[in-house]
Amino acid sequence: AECQQLDWAGVPVWFFPSIDSTNSEALRRQAQLPDRALILAAEQSAGRGRLGRQWQARAGGSLCLSVFYRRAVDLAAIQGLGPALGLAAASVLRELGVVGVALKWPNDLQVDGLKLGGILVEVAGGAQPLALVAGIGINVDLGDDFNIDQPWTDLRRLACSVSVEHLAKGIGSAFLATLDQVCEQGLPSALTEWSQFDALAGRYVQVIGGAREGGEVLGIADDGRLRLRDQQGEWCCHSGEVSVRAVK
Ligand code: BTN
Repeated sequence: AECQQLDWAGVPVWFFPSIDSTNSEALRRQAQLPDRALILAAEQSAGRGRLGRQWQARAGGSLCLSVFYRRAVDLAAIQGLGPALGLAAASVLRELGVVGVALKWPNDLQVDGLKLGGILVEVAGGAQPLALVAGIGINVDLGDDFNIDQPWTDLRRLACSVSVEHLAKGIGSAFLATLDQVCEQGLPSALTEWSQFDALAGRYVQVIGGAREGGEVLGIADDGRLRLRDQQGEWCCHSGEVSVRAVK
């Protein structure tokens, strides 16, 4: 696909007017990419979400960004990166004046229970240094007749009129800073603010694909797992293959 190379404060950016998926492009191009780079698209035709789901974007109205990051990363931290990066994105949005941003574990951005964005972290190859691709999609302005199979909102509806480019700069640098923090200070240091944004705390959830059926959400564990309590006691669930649904 056609692309334009930019430089944002020393970070190389590959900008695509149109591409299938910025995460897929980062995975395909990884051998040529420097240790940190941003892949940005104005339009994405085959955006991917967690668990093989689709991510739908509107041309020019959605943030479609992937942060490529190559560094020795503790493999145990990988499953906590979604929540840590979710926190980074939530802080950027809060600073832009978006009120009520919440995180639905492991990595959905919501406002009032409506989906605003999501994160998809992928690891390219198992050898160190690892190449990580941290993709984020945010609904900026989906217009008036956009169809998504779940309740959603966008920044325009939330009265936030940030440009996609400004948002990409803010989130790109926040993601890189969070990835550095995880490598240098450990994952727990990047999860300390989780409770401020936790959309599920105190709620009863059904865990689809987990070791147990669900329970009351207690919060997040230091390793990024979801902490729950059911009749048998406390347990934690990994983000890998589960989907969580609030039941009351
Ligand atoms: C989810 O909600 O399940 C995660 C959505 C992630 C979407 C972003 S858009 C940029 C990057 N490229 C993709 O194909 N997916 C991520």
